[in-house]
Amino acid sequence: MSVRRSVIVGCGSYLPQKVLTNHDLAKLVDTSDEWIVERTGIRTRHIAAEGEFTSHLATKAAQRALQAAGLKAGDVDLIVLGTTTPDETFPATATRVQEQLGMTRGVAFDVQAVCSGFIFSLAVADNFLRLGQAETALVIGAETFSRILDWSDRSTCVLFGDGAGAVVLRAEQATGTSQDRGVLTTKLHSDGRQHDLLYASGGVSSTKTAGVVRMDGPKVFKHAVEKLADVVHESLADAGLGASDVNWVVPHQANRRILAGVSKKLGIEDDKVIVTVDHHANTSAASVPLALTEAVQDGRIKPDDIVVLEAMGGGFSWGAAVVRM
Ligand code: UT7
Repeated sequence: MSVRRSVIVGCGSYLPQKVLTNHDLAKLVDTSDEWIVERTGIRTRHIAAEGEFTSHLATKAAQRALQAAGLKAGDVDLIVLGTTTPDETFPATATRVQEQLGMTRGVAFDVQAVCSGFIFSLAVADNFLRLGQAETALVIGAETFSRILDWSDRSTCVLFGDGAGAVVLRAEQATGTSQDRGVLTTKLHSDGRQHDLLYASGGVSSTKTAGVVRMDGPKVFKHAVEKLADVVHESLADAGLGASDVNWVVPHQANRRILAGVSKKLGIEDDKVIVTVDHHANTSAASVPLALTEAVQDGRIKPDDIVVLEAMGGGFSWGAAVVRM
């Protein structure tokens, strides 16, 4: 059977220049390098400069992804951008990126699924490509999360950072089996009953402000391990694969202990899990494409590898994708 598949033909990422260490944070709040490293695995995070917006980070990551793919902005007919920290309340930050890339055709829009934003955006773009509604898509996760942190709350401000990552997807004809290159399946979930465990304390309609991150860390942690293991199982089963077929897991980079908990539950060895949280912390929607790009660029992830992408965030929202590179 001939089907269309969305093949990842290039990845790119961008981290702002300014680095904030755990020692820097210990001067702001009652915390320590030891506590942050032991409880989260985080050592440093990048912070966007004044005047540097989510669209700027996204555009740089997108340009690098296009370069890796050997394509130009004019080849792209779809941009889906996952973000919780848009440049403006409207229009979509994706349209700012469209303009900055010099792209004058196609469609560009944002997806809001907080830390799951990249997986949700990938699923949306994959559906567009498989249905023939687009041929070449930029899927981006980009955040300036530092702008919605309460810098006096040690339980959240040490956990997050800014950054962006992007992939280029191209529609290709394939056979419809798990031997195909490209996105083999995506599985998405949300549960609005969990709102109070992770949310921003404001919004356009409620307070006319952006608010700041509020989180019940230990409860989110417990849900994350359970839901991520479940959705990876579900997506592998849907792709006709098992845990032993997985070459690499590229998880949302929130906390090293969550990554270890999920791989243990799945029976996947820790050395198959890409970990980058140590040097960029939790960058929300940007974290999966940041980790993916790093592992593709350093040669760990190779063509034909089976890669599982997974993420969980506010909403709750969570999801996974199985991709043959
Ligand atoms: O991306 C969206 C998903 N978000 C996540 O995945 C985050 C999930 N949660 C976590 O990563 C962890 O729960 C945290 C890293 C947020 C917290 O780690 P924990 O092991 O669950 O610690 P805890 O919240 O139970 O706190 C233990 C202690 C508390 O003190 P007491 O009450 O035991 O005296 C906290 O007040 O650590 C204290 N604490 C800190 N101490 C030093 C909390 N934050 C800090 C801090 N520095 N930054």
